[in-house]
Amino acid sequence: MASEHPLERNLALELVRVTEAAALHAARWMGRGDKEAADQAAVDAMRTALRYVDMDGIVVIGEGEKDEAPMLYIGERVGTGRPPKVDVAVDPIDGTNLTAKGLPNAITVVAVAERGAMYYAPHIVYMNKIVVGPEAKGAIDINAPVRDNLFRVARFMERNVEDLTVCVLDRPRHEGLISEVREAGARIKLISDGDVAGAIMAALPGDSGVDVLMGIGGTPEAVLAASALKCLGGEMQCKLWPRSQAERERAVEAGNRDLDRVLCLDDLVASDDVFFAATGVTGGELLRSVHYRRDFAETYSIMMRSRSGTMRRFETHHHIGLKRDLPAGAAYVPD
Ligand code: FBP
Repeated sequence: MASEHPLERNLALELVRVTEAAALHAARWMGRGDKEAADQAAVDAMRTALRYVDMDGIVVIGEGEKDEAPMLYIGERVGTGRPPKVDVAVDPIDGTNLTAKGLPNAITVVAVAERGAMYYAPHIVYMNKIVVGPEAKGAIDINAPVRDNLFRVARFMERNVEDLTVCVLDRPRHEGLISEVREAGARIKLISDGDVAGAIMAALPGDSGVDVLMGIGGTPEAVLAASALKCLGGEMQCKLWPRSQAERERAVEAGNRDLDRVLCLDDLVASDDVFFAATGVTGGELLRSVHYRRDFAETYSIMMRSRSGTMRRFETHHHIGLKRDLPAGAAYVPD
């Protein structure tokens, strides 16, 4: 029977095969010091796996503009071409450096939402972000001082500010932010990369070890994190963070008139039909790494759907031994 709602199907269950495929190929490069090769392996596998997903998708967040990215470029059509019509955001690896060094929390990520729902700002590389989980929803204001935010978050979560852990990308641009968090008395988890995983950990139910994510990270990663947050029910506020006057002018020319505007979840993903999947490449607090056995490989994934608020964790055994007859260079797509 045809479904009445265009997004009746839980697409996240199909998207997880895409993130699994990318992780299975990318994790071969763990610790081998070659982030480009790891990323390429993930991109190839993700693109192959996306072909099998029943959707008429357009890549909105991808590897870049068509002339710089031969695959999964912004505007590329993905999926079988059958309905539903959707926007697709991919990050074949969030944490290419983490993968190359074998450090924790590199993940493969795909999100899907209704066509036209995802925020598009390719001219601005970074956004300032603040993310909390459902318990602290309503507590944050990106324009307020760091201290005020942390005390409000602590109050909403019925904790002392000293009990909060704030996840921050370890970058020189965050020197001031780190001092302010320390002065407020909260604890800090510095990460060398991977603020999508950091944002998810801030919003996950239970004790993920992170309560708040703060600081400046990638704009595409903000849209991916917002997709997960839509499903998890937390709160996220962002502001574009142009690096130079030239970037500011380019963004204004491209139609982003108000660069000081606070972007909330509904601005980043303007839909209540959002699907999100991620698979661990290197192991960390969020997801375990890919494990290769003689014939099997194991992957660990998380998938979510906004309309139902369902979050699933998957442990998958891939019988790679049965796929040994794949042509050289062909991507293994999980069944
Ligand atoms: P890549 O995996 O694409 O290298 O991105 C990793 C990442 O750490 C993101 O999670 C984050 O949003 C962004 O890079 C931060 O950018 P930068 O490394 O330029 O500070």
